[in-house]
Amino acid sequence: MIIDGRRTFVWSGEMHPFRLPSPALWRDVLQKMKAIGFNTVSVYFDWGYHSPAPGEYDFTGVRDMDRLLDIADEAGLYVIARPGPYINAEADGGGFPAWLATQAGKARSDAPDYLAATDEWQSAIDAIIARHQLSNGTGSVILYQIENELASTGTSQRNYLQHLYDKARADGIQVPIFHNDKGRNGYWVPASSTVPGTVPGPVDLYAFDGYPGGTCHTDGTVGSPNNAPDWGIQGAGGAKGGASASNATPGFVAEFGGGWFDYWGSVGTYPCTAIRQGPGYERVFYGTNIANRLTVQNFYMVSGGTSWGWLPAPVVYSSYDYGAAIDEGRQLRAKAQTLKTLGYFVQSVAPLTKVDKGADVPSSSAAVRIEHTVNAETGTNFYFAVHSPSSATTDDSFTFPISTVDGSYTVPLRLHGQDAKTLVADYDLAGNHLVYSTSEIETHLRGVALLHGRDGEAGETVLRYPSSPTVDVLDGAATADYDPTAGDLKLSYSHHGLIRVRITAADRPALTLLIADEDTAAQFWRVDDLLVRGPQLVRTARVHDGRLALTGDTTAAAPLEIWGAPAACLVTWNGRPVAVRPAVGGGLVAVRNLAGPRQITLPELTTWRYAAESPEAAPGFDDSGWRTADLTVTNSTTKPPAGQVVLTADDYGFHHGDVWYRGHFDGTAPAAVSVDWGGGGAGLIQAWLDGTYLGQRQIPSGVAAPPTRGNDTFAIPSALQVAGPHTLSIMVRNDGHNEDGGVNDAHKEGRGVIGATFDGVVPSAVTWRIQGAASVDPMRGPLNNGGLYGERNGWSLPGFRDRSWSTRSLPDDSAISGTAWYRTTFDLHIPADVDASLGLTIGDPSVPHNSRHYRVLIFVNGWNMGQYIADVGPQHTFALPTGVLDPRGRNTVALAVTSDGGEANAPEGIRLTTLGVSRR
Ligand code: GAL
Repeated sequence: MIIDGRRTFVWSGEMHPFRLPSPALWRDVLQKMKAIGFNTVSVYFDWGYHSPAPGEYDFTGVRDMDRLLDIADEAGLYVIARPGPYINAEADGGGFPAWLATQAGKARSDAPDYLAATDEWQSAIDAIIARHQLSNGTGSVILYQIENELASTGTSQRNYLQHLYDKARADGIQVPIFHNDKGRNGYWVPASSTVPGTVPGPVDLYAFDGYPGGTCHTDGTVGSPNNAPDWGIQGAGGAKGGASASNATPGFVAEFGGGWFDYWGSVGTYPCTAIRQGPGYERVFYGTNIANRLTVQNFYMVSGGTSWGWLPAPVVYSSYDYGAAIDEGRQLRAKAQTLKTLGYFVQSVAPLTKVDKGADVPSSSAAVRIEHTVNAETGTNFYFAVHSPSSATTDDSFTFPISTVDGSYTVPLRLHGQDAKTLVADYDLAGNHLVYSTSEIETHLRGVALLHGRDGEAGETVLRYPSSPTVDVLDGAATADYDPTAGDLKLSYSHHGLIRVRITAADRPALTLLIADEDTAAQFWRVDDLLVRGPQLVRTARVHDGRLALTGDTTAAAPLEIWGAPAACLVTWNGRPVAVRPAVGGGLVAVRNLAGPRQITLPELTTWRYAAESPEAAPGFDDSGWRTADLTVTNSTTKPPAGQVVLTADDYGFHHGDVWYRGHFDGTAPAAVSVDWGGGGAGLIQAWLDGTYLGQRQIPSGVAAPPTRGNDTFAIPSALQVAGPHTLSIMVRNDGHNEDGGVNDAHKEGRGVIGATFDGVVPSAVTWRIQGAASVDPMRGPLNNGGLYGERNGWSLPGFRDRSWSTRSLPDDSAISGTAWYRTTFDLHIPADVDASLGLTIGDPSVPHNSRHYRVLIFVNGWNMGQYIADVGPQHTFALPTGVLDPRGRNTVALAVTSDGGEANAPEGIRLTTLGVSRR
C-alpha cells in the first residue's frame, strides 16, 4: 500500500482493546508489538462493551478509545480500525449490544430499526476514529473496516453495506474502507475489480480472512502441519483465489491465523496452539503469503487478552490467550521472535512491496519447491524455498539455479522440519551489492546488516566488489574468497552464535555483517535507525542532545550492544546512565550488564470472609420490587410455549450474567417441573421449590460449538406436592449470547427461562417475577455484572464492608446450594521498576477439570475477571491485569462461589501466581 507517498508493506497484528481492560496494558502491548516488528495494529471496537442501552454511548469505555488510538500512534503503529457494527470475535453476541437481541428487525440487514441502531454506534465511534486518521495528520488510522465477514450477499445486505459506507463517509472517515471476506469467496470487491464471479460492494479495497493452520488435537497434542495455501500471485487466481478477486488493489488478508481460541471443557490447548501456530508455521505460512504478494497482512491474534466479565460468546471461556505471540500475561512467546525476523524483513527490504511472479525455478529435490518473485524496477529477486508439500517436515538439502544481472549461480540450501526461507538476490544491502545470500535478511541500517539462519546450517553470502575488499572476521568462523573475474566476494560459514564480518571496500560504505543463528537473532531489536542487542525487550529509542535514551525490559541481567548510534553519545537505559565503550566492528557496548528484576514475593490468600446468599430461594424473600413478567410478544428467536408470558431475560432488560426468576402459584405442586432455558456455553440452572433445593443442570460442554440451550426436568419431592401457595425459584447463569456469524439473528436466542411446564403442561396461573443486574457499573461497563444478590448489593466491590462476615480458610470442604461469597484483601509491594504480571490460580492446573461441582466468578477490585468452572475447565489461572490490579497497594478479591451444595463442592486452594516478571 502507498502510505504517505511511500510503498509500505503493512504488517499488522490484532489486539482487542476490550480484552485488555487498562490503558497501561494497551501501551505495554502496543510497544511490544512495535518491538517485534509490526508497523500496524488492527483493532476491533466492541459495540456491546460500550453500549448498555439504546442511545447510551458515553461510557468511559468509548471515550477511552481516543486514548487507545493516541497510544497506538505514540507507539509508532498504524491502525486498521474495525468498528463492526458486527465483529464476531468470540465476543458476546458477536459484539452486538445485548439490547439488540430484542429488536424486531433482522440484524445485518437493511431493516430500519437495525440501521437506526448502527447509525447511533457509528456516530459515536466514527467521531473518535475520524480524529485519528493519518489523512488528517492527526493520528495513524490508515484503514476502516465496515462489517465483518458478511457472507450473505442479497439486496438487503448490499443496501446495508452501502448504508454503513455512506454513514462512515458522512462521519468524516476518509481512509480507504474495506470488508473482510469470510474465506475466499470474492464477496464485496471494489468496483475496480473486473474479475468474473465476484460480488461488488461499497468498498475501496478487497480483503479476505483465512485460518489454514488447523488446530491441535482435542487431547492437546500438536498433530502434523497443514499445507500453506497460495492466496495471491502464486495461486489459482479468479474470484475464489484470494487476492486475485480484486486485480487493481493490494493483496490484503485482513485476518490470517495467529493462533486459535479454546472452548469450555477442552483440555486447555493454548500452549499447544502456540506451537502448532508457532515458529515453523509462521515461516511456512506467512512466508507463503509474502511470496504471494499479500502486502497487507494482519495476524489474528497477536495479543488475545482476556474475555473478562460477560464478554465471552458461548464458544470460548475467560482466557482469550489464543496461543498468540504475546500471551495473556503479556509475555513474548518464542513465536514472537520468529515474527520479529519476518516483520523486520518485510519492512527493511523495500523491493518486496512491489513484486511479480518470476520465471519458474526448479529445485534439485522433488521434496522442495521454489516460489520466485521479482521486483522489475530494482531487479531484486526473491526465492521462497518451502517443502513440497509445505506440510512436509523432512530434512532436505538441495540446490536451485538463480539468474540475475550478476550472472548465474547454483545455490545450496537446506530445509529441516517445518521450515521455509526467503532468499534475496540482486539487492542493495546497506550500500553494498548483494549478489545473493543463503542466510535470510533480518534487517539492515547504515553500515550494518543482520542476517540469520538455523543453528548448524551452512550459509553463504556473495557480495560484489570491483576490487578485492578487506575482510575481517571479527567474531565466529567464516571464510572469504574473492573471485577477481566476477568480482564476487563469497563468505562461507555455518550459522552458529554470532558471526561478525567487517568488509571495507573502496567507494562504498564499510559494512559490518552480523550473521546470527535463530537464538542469537532473537536477541536483536530494531528500533528506529538503531540496532540493539541484548535486553529481553527494547521498547523505544530517542536520540536527543547527544544522548541516546533507550527503554526496555530485562528479565535477567543482560548485555547491551548498540549499532547506529551517533558517535560518542551518552546512553541511558530506562533513564539511568549506562557506561559504554566502542565495540568490535563498530557500535557501542555496555561495560557492565544491565540489571535484571528484583525478586518479588506474593502474599498468601488463606484467610477469607464468608457469607452465604441466594436468599431468593427462600419462600419469604421479598421480590415485590422485581419486574413482573407480563410481556406476551418477544423478538427472541426462541418463543415461550403457547399460553405462557415471555420469560426471556433480555426482554426485561437483564442481559448479562445471572438472572433470578420467582414463580408464584397456588394449588397442588406438580411432581415435576421442566424448564426450557438458554444459558450459553456451560450455562447453569439451579431450582428451588419453597426453599427446597431441586438441583442444578449444566449445558453440556467439551465441544468447539457447544449447545447453548437446555431442557431439564426437576423432580419435586413428594412432601412438597401439597396445596399452595408455592414459590418456584430459578437461577440461570447466562454464559453469553450467540454470535451472529450466519446472519440469522442467532444472537437473539433466548437467555434465562424460555418456558416452564408442570407435569408436562403449561401452568395456567403462575406469576413470574424476574431480577437481573440491578444497574450498570458506570466504570466497568455493562459486561461486568449480572444479577446475583451479592452483585446487586455491592459485595463484589472493593469498598464493601464485610467485617461482620464469618471467617473461612481455603481450601474449603463444605458448601451451600446456591451462591456464597468469599472475600479477602492483599497488599502488593512490587518495586516501581518491576513489571509483574500476576494471575490467580484456583486448584490444580494440571487437571483441566475435576469432580467438584462448583463454579466461581472472580472479582478483583470490583472487576469480574472471569469464571472458573471446576468440573468443566480447563482454565485454572486467571490473568489479573495491571491497572485492574494495584501492584503497589491494597487489592480486594471477591469470589462468588455457586455450588450444588454437595460435599466438597467448595473452593479448592487459591493462590497468586506469577505470569512474568521484568525490570523496566
Ligand atoms: C473470524 C472472525 C473473527 C474471529 C475469528 C476466529 O472469522 O472474523 O472475528 O471470530 O474468526 O477467532
